Amino acid sequence: MADKQMILVTGACGQIGTELVSALRVKYGTQQVIATDIRDATVDVSLHGPYYRLDVMDKDALYKLVSQHQVTHIYHLAAVLSATGEKSPLTAWDLNMRSLLNVLEVARTEKLKQVFWPSSIAVFGAKAPKESCPQYALTVPSTVYGISKVAGEQWCQYYHEQYGLDVRSIRYPGLISYSAKAGGGTTDYAVDIFQQAVNNSYYHCYLLENTRLPMLYMPDAVRATLELMDAPAEKISVRTSYNLAGISFTPQELAAVITDYIPDFRIDYQPDKRQQIAESWPSSIDDRQAREEWGWKPAFDIKAMTADMLLHTEREVISTDCLES
Ligand SMILES: NC(=O)c1ccc[n+]([C@@H]2O[C@H](COP(=O)([O-])OP(=O)(O)OC[C@H]3O[C@@H](n4cnc5c(N)ncnc54)[C@H](O)[C@@H]3O)[C@@H](O)[C@H]2O)c1
Repeated sequence: MADKQMILVTGACGQIGTELVSALRVKYGTQQVIATDIRDATVDVSLHGPYYRLDVMDKDALYKLVSQHQVTHIYHLAAVLSATGEKSPLTAWDLNMRSLLNVLEVARTEKLKQVFWPSSIAVFGAKAPKESCPQYALTVPSTVYGISKVAGEQWCQYYHEQYGLDVRSIRYPGLISYSAKAGGGTTDYAVDIFQQAVNNSYYHCYLLENTRLPMLYMPDAVRATLELMDAPAEKISVRTSYNLAGISFTPQELAAVITDYIPDFRIDYQPDKRQQIAESWPSSIDDRQAREEWGWKPAFDIKAMTADMLLHTEREVISTDCLES
C-alpha cells in the first residue's frame, strides 16, 4: 500500500500536470492530490479532485495552502518553457527560478517529505555530445530556459546536501501527449502534428526534416516520475537531475510512421527560430544511470506511440475549456 501522502501540484493545468494529477489521484486517492495553477481550472484537473488557483510566485499563498492542507509532497511543474522563454528571457528566469526557490524554501521550513521538480534536456548546449549525451556532459545551454534548468538543478542538489531535503528530478526530453496542448517548447511539433494529421492530413513543420531530438511518450514520462519518487533514497545518487531517454526521431521519420495510418498525410518544412534551439540540443540521451539505479525502462517506441496518439486524437477533443474556479 502506498504511504499516506498529501500532494500539492503546481502548474497542474499544463501538458504534464493534466496527466500527472490523474495518475497521482489514482495512486494516492482523489482527495490527497491538490491541483493548483495560476489559470482557471481545466475540466480534467478540477472535476476529479481539489483545485485551487495559486500563483506560485506568491510565497505567502503557497505557505498558506501547504499548512492548511498539511501538504507532505510537492510536484512543482509551473514554468515558462524553451520557445516562450526566448520571447521574454527575464520573465522566464524570474518565474522559473523564484518559483523553485519558493517551493524549496517551503519544503525546507515546513519539513515536507519530498519534492519533485522537472529539469530538461535543454540543460545541454552545443558543447555537449550530440549522440548518447551522458549524464555528466557539459551543461552550457544557449536558452534562458536551459540556464534556469541548470541553475535549478544546482539549487535542488544544494537543498539536498545542506538541508537533507528529498528533492528528485528528471531531465525530461520532449513530451508527447494528447490530453492537453503543448506549452511552448521546442519539441511541440511532435504533439501538434497529430492534431493536424487527423484533421487536415497536412502539417507545416517549424523544424527541418532531419532534426533528430529526444522524445518521450507521456505515459512513460508519468510512470518514470512515479517510479523515481517511489525509489528508496539509497538508490538515488543523482540530486541534480537524471537523464531520461525514450525515443529519438526526426520530423521526417515521425511523418513516415503517421503515413502508415493516414496514407494521404503530407508534411512540409519551414524552420523558424526554434530550429536554432533544437540544433543546440542533443539528438539522443544516455540514461544508463536512471536504468541502473531505479530501474527506468521506456515502454513505447515510435510505432506504439504513434498508434496510441492517433487512436486518442481521433476520439478526443483537446480540452481547452476553462471553468471558473
Ligand atoms: N512538456 C515538455 O516537453 C517538457 C520537457 C522538459 C521539461 N518540462 C518541464 O516540465 C514542467 C511542466 O511542463 P509542461 O509542459 O506541463 O508546461 P505547460 O506550459 O504545459 O504548463 C505549465 C503550467 O504552469 C502554469 N503557470 C505558469 N505560471 C505560473 C505561476 N506563476 N503560478 C502557477 N502556475 C503557473 C501555467 O498556467 C501552465 O498551466 C516544466 O518545468 C517544464 O520545464 C516539460
